[in-house]
Amino acid sequence: MKSAKQNLIRILQNAYSGEVAAAYAYRGHWKSLKESPEKTRIREIEAEEWDHRRRVGDWLERLDAKPRPIREKIFWTIGRTLGASCFLSGWFMPMYFAGRLESKNSLEYEDAAEFARELGMHACVDDLIDMARGEEEHEVFFRGVVRGHRLLPVMRRVFRWS
Ligand SMILES: [Fe+2]
Ligand SMILES: [Fe+2]
Repeated sequence: MKSAKQNLIRILQNAYSGEVAAAYAYRGHWKSLKESPEKTRIREIEAEEWDHRRRVGDWLERLDAKPRPIREKIFWTIGRTLGASCFLSGWFMPMYFAGRLESKNSLEYEDAAEFARELGMHACVDDLIDMARGEEEHEVFFRGVVRGHRLLPVMRRVFRWS
């Protein structure tokens, strides 16, 4: 059985690397779009993911923990690859999978907040809940963007989001 502290560190390490993948994927995503409100919003979302990464990194430091170097390399590569693929994959898929990913991210931060609560780290709980809300807002944005798209019903059946 792992301790609450070990569990919290593990989730934060995953989130820290996940955020770099998200940020680079969104960078490629907004760059692949033409000027539009969506482009502007995704550019903001990229900035918010970098902010999350910085905050998660601060908490790791306070827990005397470090990001995992292999995970960092893998997720850096995933982010760069996804970002580049947005130029090829058309409009719908990056929007859909972004939304689906965001729905998992908010749950991940809520789980982390639970462990922080167990440890009596109240400022950390608040910060994690705030980030969970941020990821939820991202999800709501992408849900709105793909709403009514012809591919949505089949994607929803296969990938179980939206
Ligand atoms: Fe994030
Ligand atoms: Fe996000």
